[in-house]
Amino acid sequence: MSSPSPPKGEYSPRPPSSLRSPCPLLNSLANHGYLPRSGRDFTQSDLSSALSQAGLSPILRAILSSPVFLEYHNSKSSPPSKPKKSLLNPWSLLFSFFGMRDPNQFNSSGVPVLNLDQIAREGIAEHDISLTRLDRSQGDFLAAQPGLVQELLAISNDGKYITLEDLAALRKRRIEKRMSEDPDKITYGSREHRISCTEIALVLCVFGDGKRVPLEYIRAIFEEERLPTKEGWEKRGGWWWGTLGLKELGSVSKTVREVVEWKAVE
Ligand code: HEM
Repeated sequence: MSSPSPPKGEYSPRPPSSLRSPCPLLNSLANHGYLPRSGRDFTQSDLSSALSQAGLSPILRAILSSPVFLEYHNSKSSPPSKPKKSLLNPWSLLFSFFGMRDPNQFNSSGVPVLNLDQIAREGIAEHDISLTRLDRSQGDFLAAQPGLVQELLAISNDGKYITLEDLAALRKRRIEKRMSEDPDKITYGSREHRISCTEIALVLCVFGDGKRVPLEYIRAIFEEERLPTKEGWEKRGGWWWGTLGLKELGSVSKTVREVVEWKAVE
């Protein structure tokens, strides 16, 4: 007999045959039951309410969770073209570049759903030269690589915190290393760089103060894909600190890009 699922909020490592994404935060939310532990069939409303557990503002949650439920079009093979729909709703054309869902992928109530592995669909948000994942051309680009996670944990200068500068230096080192190893197989331009610097900004703002994050929090998120509540983390949005909004995220992401000081040759 299979054991009952732990209550929502309680951490449990991913069950066998569950699906996961390349995003440590989304995987952590699934490991706590805020997204289905199976990683399957979650709706936009499930994703938005799970993201509220990370302390994101309602607008930022809507921006991050809505477009991904549009239909997937691989921009490399078939650019989105739905003239009739886009005349009715021009946003559907703009945001369709972020769609990750299969046509006809709905739950039994007819609501669009996604699986966590679809978050990695080619040409949308997933990119080469991650901090802790392999590139698509190297093999498994979904699961964290223990060696890369150890490299990440080793960047702390004082053994207590990982700072924006530490993360920016690691990002630059990873770009230079992979570009010199596999220049012909890598896709990493200004778009991918913007996304990866925003991922760093998200970690700094969700788990830290925008400038640094306790090392033990990073260990929980990347080694176990677990929210670091045991280590003392509380989500933003309490009486003393507001939720994370788009403006703050944009400003920290810009600072990360400035500190990395890398420009795509395009
Ligand atoms: C609170 C919000 C979030 C945080 C803190 C976060 C954090 C991160 C981090 C740190 C990475 C990079 C992992 C690495 O380089 O090894 C990442 C990757 C990724 N995230 Fe998230 N994320 C968040 C929300 C989201 C959302 C809402 C989505 C999409 C619906 C998403 C999709 C992705 C994808 C596709 C990747 C893979 C990029 C790659 O190829 O490395 N993330 N995330």
